[in-house]
Amino acid sequence: MLLSIESSCDESALALFNPAKGILWEAIHSQIPTHAKHGGVVPELAVREHLRKLPELLARMQEETGVTFGSEAAEDSISRLAVTVGPGLVGSLAMGMALARALELQYNLPLVGVNHLRAHAFSVFIESHRESPTDFASNFQNLLPHLGLLVSGGNTLLYEIGLSHGAPSVTLLARTVDDAAGEALDKAAKMLGLPYPGGPLIEKIACEGDPAAYQFPIPFRESHGLGFSFSGLKTSLRYKLLAMSAAEVEKEKSNLAASFQSAVVGALALMVRRALKQKNYRSLGVGGGVAQNALLRESLAGLGKDFGIPLLAAKPWHCGDNAGMVAFAAWADAAGVRVVDGFEPALGIAD
Ligand code: KG4
Repeated sequence: MLLSIESSCDESALALFNPAKGILWEAIHSQIPTHAKHGGVVPELAVREHLRKLPELLARMQEETGVTFGSEAAEDSISRLAVTVGPGLVGSLAMGMALARALELQYNLPLVGVNHLRAHAFSVFIESHRESPTDFASNFQNLLPHLGLLVSGGNTLLYEIGLSHGAPSVTLLARTVDDAAGEALDKAAKMLGLPYPGGPLIEKIACEGDPAAYQFPIPFRESHGLGFSFSGLKTSLRYKLLAMSAAEVEKEKSNLAASFQSAVVGALALMVRRALKQKNYRSLGVGGGVAQNALLRESLAGLGKDFGIPLLAAKPWHCGDNAGMVAFAAWADAAGVRVVDGFEPALGIAD
């Protein structure tokens, strides 16, 4: 059994994974209440909270599951360790890695480093493994080549998973040239007077608004390439708000949120459609925090239908940062794991 540790940003998380059974236990401590009052993640506070919460989660895991640290031979004990080595905040990564190192030394267990972005990329396959662990290898191969969209507060990436020498390989197709989609939603929410993180609140109030009430520029609409940009959308919202009185903004909040959300989703879907036209993919995936957005899921499901391929959307609890995906990637993406010899805060998805 494998124990994974995730602490790359503002979530402390642990998970237990058995390749023959799936994710057996997982828990996340979210630091949102700590950072919300500052309007964003404060790295120093994140480090301190990881330092307190990771040992608590470890104690909880042992109390709730009764598992012990052991050897490869004992099937129901922890025989391997995995930890996120990057990308992320240096101090936050260091906390998870310190715990991993301590357990590695104390119990003499093998430890591997996991690329957080690749873990998000593989999170969309967790369900397929859960449904049939024994058939996973062949089912997975039948889903390749896979087109994936990773949308979070820090990243907006389009990538391909294929096979290279029998092992999964990840190729970056496109990324944002400025803000990430989640960052744009969070900044838009802030401009509308909503608390951090604003993405889910934009979605909530957008339900009562008209997505066609305001026009926002969809970046790269006229070009033919793949790429994302969200800072223009944000600036466009700023100018719209500057031209309105406070009372008007209050009255128009749900229309503004619905129109902004629609533009973000439209920009994401445009590039996904373009990529799907370029190659015969056999599945489409979406992961990362913003993948919880219903409009985005709906829009990508429609694209999957148009191209006759399944949409694999990460389960909501595997969209944000979590250790389940780290454990799963340590096993399913064995070619992507790294030696743990220092954190890698700027790691890319294809590194
Ligand atoms: O993956 P995540 O937890 O990681 C980062 O820390 O990057 O993603 C968080 C992002 C935030 O920007 C948040 O506003 C956004 O995901 N988000 C959403 C929704 N839920 C979370 N955006 C739109 N709709 C949602 N339902």
